[in-house]
Amino acid sequence: MTISTLTVAGTTTPETTSPATTSPAATTSSGPDTRTTTATLVADDATDATFRRAQQRSERIEADLRVDPTAYRVVTGDRPTGDLHLGHYIGTLANRVRLQNAGVPVTVVIADYQVITDRERPGPLRDRVRALVADYLAAGLDPRRTAIFPHSAVPALNQLLLPFLSLVSVAELHRNPTVKAESLASRRTLSALMLTYPVHQAADILCCQGTLVPVGKDQLPHIELARVIARRFNDRYGHVFGEPEALLSSAPVVLGVDGAKMSKTRGNTIPLGADEDQTTAAIRAARTDGLRRITFDPLSRPSVANLLTIVGALTGREPARIADEIGDGGASALKAVAAEVINESLRDLRARRRELLADPGYLDEVLLDGTARASAAAGEALERVRVAMGMDYFGG
Ligand code: TRP
Repeated sequence: MTISTLTVAGTTTPETTSPATTSPAATTSSGPDTRTTTATLVADDATDATFRRAQQRSERIEADLRVDPTAYRVVTGDRPTGDLHLGHYIGTLANRVRLQNAGVPVTVVIADYQVITDRERPGPLRDRVRALVADYLAAGLDPRRTAIFPHSAVPALNQLLLPFLSLVSVAELHRNPTVKAESLASRRTLSALMLTYPVHQAADILCCQGTLVPVGKDQLPHIELARVIARRFNDRYGHVFGEPEALLSSAPVVLGVDGAKMSKTRGNTIPLGADEDQTTAAIRAARTDGLRRITFDPLSRPSVANLLTIVGALTGREPARIADEIGDGGASALKAVAAEVINESLRDLRARRRELLADPGYLDEVLLDGTARASAAAGEALERVRVAMGMDYFGG
């Protein structure tokens, strides 16, 4: 599998709303004067350095996990904004299943309140959440091992938000590049919820004693904030929280059929729930180029490289080798291979997904069970917070 140095922004989000750029300078610089340019360079360098550090750290964590899979507790999550697609499968779902199967404790939070950071209403949550759970289970998450719960169902989690908010400044929140980018993309006035959602997310993570968060590059600022919150809380009130770390995915970037990042809003996805004919049609309509000879060249032939990347990720083979095999077959041969590999790889998942969706009672049970487990963990975390802060003064 190709190890990419870039992970798609928002690979953990069912409907991606984050724009391609997460550079802080991109949203603040307004002109080409040298001061801004220097600031841009400095900011990009800082982001790159942070990214490289996170990558190195992730490699060490993977090595730790091979020795002791219970050395970390993974917390991860998605906003229920739409159906999961192939980009999620390759980018995050497969990784969660891998961690779970390796024996790492995993908790998945369905971040329903986070949906309204960039829109007015949460939308048809019941159907979306059930579909999300069906996708998780169909992909291989096992509800006996992995707790899956909706954020809104765990009040103790939300109560952590108040003390956490006291530990960060408004200026710090305004500096978060991902929040800036998402706010810009939403074309709406920055709401207080959008500004503070990384604090919410810190509560998601810390309420379940999460110490490891598998993320794409865009989420690194949020993990950093969660670390800051844990550290400041401990400094002020005594040790309660471990500092969570980011686990950067080594999965390749998956583009949509139009060559832009795969995202529901762009309508360029291969949904996990699509049938085989729809998948084949979408791949057949995918953008490629006119060159007969198929080569793996992500920079000059991104759309062709993307199909090869998808095939490579799903088969565990090198994209360049696949390109060699297709050789002079041109785009039509490449597309035939891609459609077949995708349909083949998703066949069992899709069958399970259909069965699961036909049994909404079971999906709700999975959520209820996950909620009970998350509530117990969050209740404990909140109790420790209250004791540490002296909030347990009432009632003996
Ligand atoms: N913010 C994440 C996203 O946009 C979703 C999320 C919510 C999350 N809570 C989390 C991710 C906790 C990891 C851990 O996709």
